[in-house]
Amino acid sequence: MTDTINIRSDSYKKPKLRKIGVFTSGGDAPGMNAAIRAVTRTALANKLKVIGIRRGYQGMIEGDFMPLRSSDVSGIIQLGGTILKTARSKEFRTPEGRQKAWLQLQNAGIDAVVVIGGDGSFTGALTMSQEYNISFIGIPGTIDNDMYGTDYTIGYETALNSVVCAVDKIRDTAVSHGRIFIVEVMGREAGLLALNSGIACGAEVILIPESKEQHEALKRFLEKGYKSRERSGIIIVAEGDEPGGALKISEEVRRDHPELDVRVSILGHIQRGGSPTANDRINATRMGVAAIDALLDDQKSIMIGLDNGKIVQVPLNKAVKLNHSFNGELLQIQKLLNI
Ligand code: F6P
Repeated sequence: MTDTINIRSDSYKKPKLRKIGVFTSGGDAPGMNAAIRAVTRTALANKLKVIGIRRGYQGMIEGDFMPLRSSDVSGIIQLGGTILKTARSKEFRTPEGRQKAWLQLQNAGIDAVVVIGGDGSFTGALTMSQEYNISFIGIPGTIDNDMYGTDYTIGYETALNSVVCAVDKIRDTAVSHGRIFIVEVMGREAGLLALNSGIACGAEVILIPESKEQHEALKRFLEKGYKSRERSGIIIVAEGDEPGGALKISEEVRRDHPELDVRVSILGHIQRGGSPTANDRINATRMGVAAIDALLDDQKSIMIGLDNGKIVQVPLNKAVKLNHSFNGELLQIQKLLNI
């Protein structure tokens, strides 16, 4: 469960908060720039100084900091990627790395930090806030949409639309040639992108880490459904699906059905780029404003989330430790429609 908050329109500055840091971490996601813009301008409006930390935790360790003015975040709301750049830092996972990062924050006079990223980024924030006296506020930014406590993560909708666009095109070739396409979608640990894109594209089979029984559906489709209908089909597989991604699945399909014309398409990082959708921009903006409001309210170690369209605050320890709930309803629908 999450706790709802009221966003204060009359936010006032508590004396001890003077300078905040903001950074992006982990995989980039469309809409991160919209969040940076909202964080920066809301903080400036509340007379806070803003420091952009470049290249995620690695940049924090190395003191790769830049002051952010309102003009620095102008014209970025429509851009994919992140103007602050991002990284996955191994050094930050060590106590020595975190100590270096802490010293850099102290030297720069940064009192609190807004981190825009996913699970790994929030785990780092939680660890550091427990070791040192500094507030971290998380804004969920990942195309996987797999964070506990929020219905939505920045970048997910844009990525979903990119997948749907790509698979629609692949479908044209599948139908024209009478082929089976096995399309691999991102999501190391979560199948939400695969599941929803599969529904939106009318995929014949969807393979995701959250459900093993779909492999039986694949067998049935290849043995019965496929032969009795048109000789083409789209199988969507999440990269994290057991027992393997699209290449592994294609080997098995070719071995068991040498008569089939099978192709593999791994969509890869095309899913992470591009201009954010309107919703990604709007939600990133709302979350950015809410993150600064939370800091002004003296909040520590929380993630901003969205619950049924409302801004909520979720303790970081819950956001990183609990699993995102998986709704089996869509899988049932997919089975029902693929008779
Ligand atoms: O977490 C976002 C994500 O795109 C996952 O879906 C994917 O498994 C992973 O990042 C890929 O990360 P990288 O770009 O570092 O290889």
